[in-house]
This record gives sequence, structure tokens and C-alpha cells, in this order.
Amino acid sequence: MYVLGIETSCDETSAAIYHSEQGLLGHQIYSQIELHNRYGGVVPELASRDHIRKILPLIQQVIQEAGINKSMINGVAYTAGPGLVGALLVGATVGRSLGWALNVPTIGVHHLEGHLLAPMLEENKPIFPFLALLVSGGHTLLIEVTKIGGYKILGESLDDAAGEAFDKTAKLMGLGYPGGAALAALAEQGKPERFHFPRPMTDRPGLDFSFSGLKTAALTTLQSQPSDQQTRADIAYAFQEAVIDTLAIKCRRALQQTGLQRLVIAGGVGANKLLRHKLQATMKQFNGEVYYPRPLFCTDNAAMIAYAGLQRLSAGQYDDLAIRATARWGLDSLT
Ligand code: KG4
Ligand code: ZN
Repeated sequence: MYVLGIETSCDETSAAIYHSEQGLLGHQIYSQIELHNRYGGVVPELASRDHIRKILPLIQQVIQEAGINKSMINGVAYTAGPGLVGALLVGATVGRSLGWALNVPTIGVHHLEGHLLAPMLEENKPIFPFLALLVSGGHTLLIEVTKIGGYKILGESLDDAAGEAFDKTAKLMGLGYPGGAALAALAEQGKPERFHFPRPMTDRPGLDFSFSGLKTAALTTLQSQPSDQQTRADIAYAFQEAVIDTLAIKCRRALQQTGLQRLVIAGGVGANKLLRHKLQATMKQFNGEVYYPRPLFCTDNAAMIAYAGLQRLSAGQYDDLAIRATARWGLDSLT
């Protein structure tokens, strides 16, 4: 079964062809980062318009890359939410209409389900059940995953998401947008132990997170210190260590609480090297294994949407002819 996947929830336009036996056959991502960089964040209206410009050529490209023609497509999966509603509408309209024109089953996929299942695009796939740490620009979630659609949220961020905290702090440091990866790169030149930031909400029980205070801690330190490159790198180091340590502490707690032995790391912050190293060490202590997608599949991409869509289409699920775009959509409402 050939599934066309479409992702337009935020600032990446992406299309993919995934085959049920042969795997990923075509995949393209167009990033709008340059378009939004000068505004210091994603401008929703510009994002929607750019998705309109890019989506059809990208779909044509992945069909060609897969060596098929469009009449061979057996199903369409598009991101139906959560995300920017105008951006989502572009992928939803194109996906639903194409499904109708090709007369194939079509499904609106939950963006976070896509992220959660992204490690399944790799050779070393986790089996159910597992604990998932989903860390993106919009979400920080600890989830007990028992099956496709079996998602129990154990903890989440009460304010900024981990990626958002990285981005806001990077912006304060003049590192552009989205600055998570740039901040992580700067931290590599930093020295340990010069600054120490708190590990929020780790001194009380529970699995929720709060990252907004760390951005303020970084800001006050920045303002009270000389602005040489080494100091900036040392602040980046302390910030990154505080975020990653906090995530690792909560992961350990969740593993103890659930008794799970497999941990999946997904979402854009999952590309962070320190996070991967820390959680690898954690899983060793738990005699378990950690799974994560390659960095390209950590951030937004249509391969994960095609994969998630294939699982649901193969189970006989598909949508009616309505075009669905849902800006706010809880993962735990899925079945
Ligand atoms: O999953 P994603 O592409 O978008 C959302 O669905 O939100 O995640 C993007 C987030 C951004 O906040 C970005 O700064 C962050 O992932 N990110 C990183 C790294 N690479 C991307 N954060 C920390 N370290 C990285 N290496
Ligand atoms: Zn995402």
C-alpha cells in the first residue's frame, strides 16, 4: 500500500511516500525558517501562504522520487492538528481533495502521534508498550504508550515547552529563530560549573514540567555578567544542562512509576545530543533501551505522518469528506 503523507502544521512544508512493505520511498522537506527568521518567530499568515506555494511541487517531487505515478497511491494522510490553523488548512485541503480525486481513503493524522511513531521509521523499532518523551517547540509530554491510539499522558509542561524555552533563551542571546540547535552548539564551548540554574519542579513529586523560569534565570545572568563569548557559552551550557537534567530526572521517575523498559525520544528537542547521551545512560541503569529517530525525523516531517496514517488506514480507519484542521487537539482523546 502506497501512502502519501502531507505535513504543514507549522513552518515546514513536507511530503512523503511510504509503502507498507518497502518503507519510505520519497521524502521532501521545505523549511520556512529563513522566511520567519527576520521576524523572530513564525508569522502564521506568511506560513500559510508559503505552504500554498510549496506543497503541490513537493508532492509531485516525492511521487517522482518514489518511482510511481499518482494513480498508484492507495491512501492519503495529512496532519489535521494541532498546529497553526491556517497552515494546517493548506495540507488538509490539498490532502482531502487529492484523496477524493484519486478515490482513495484519506485520514487526518494527529501531529504528535506522528512524532511519537517517528522511531518506527528506523531499523531499530521499539515494540509496545513504551514510555515516550515528546519534546518539541510546542509540547513537552511524558506518555505511556500501550498501542497505536493508546496514549496516557503522565506529565506535561505547565508553561513553556522545552523547545520553546530553548528558542526564547536563544532569542535573548541573539541566536536567531528557532535557536534551539544554535544554543546547543554554543553550549558545547561552555565550561561546566561556572553557572548553575535550577531544575524546576524536581523537588516535589509528580511528572509535570515548568521551563519558563529558566529563561528568566538565563536573562538575569546575561544582564549581570560581561558579554564576552566565553560567558555566553557558559550561560548556554548551564541552561542546556538544567533543561536536559530536568527532563532526565522526570524520565527516571516515570520509568520507576510505570516499570517500562523502553524509552522513545521524539520531537525537535530529541535531536539534542546531550539529551540523547543522558537518556542512554539512564536506560542502561534501568536495563532498558532507548529509541529515537534520526535528527531529520525528530523535527517536523511528512514521513512520520505517512507512517502514522498507514497504521490507521491499514486498521480500516478513514475520514469522511470533511476537511479537518484542529488547532488544539489533545493526544489523549485519540483511540
Ligand atoms: O518538533 P519540532 O520540529 O516542531 C514542533 O512541532 O514544535 O520541534 C522544533 C523545536 C524548536 O523549538 C527547536 O529549537 C528545537 O526543536 N530543537 C532543538 C534542537 N534542534 C531542534 N532544541 C535543542 N537542541 C537541539 N539540538
Ligand atoms: Zn512537530
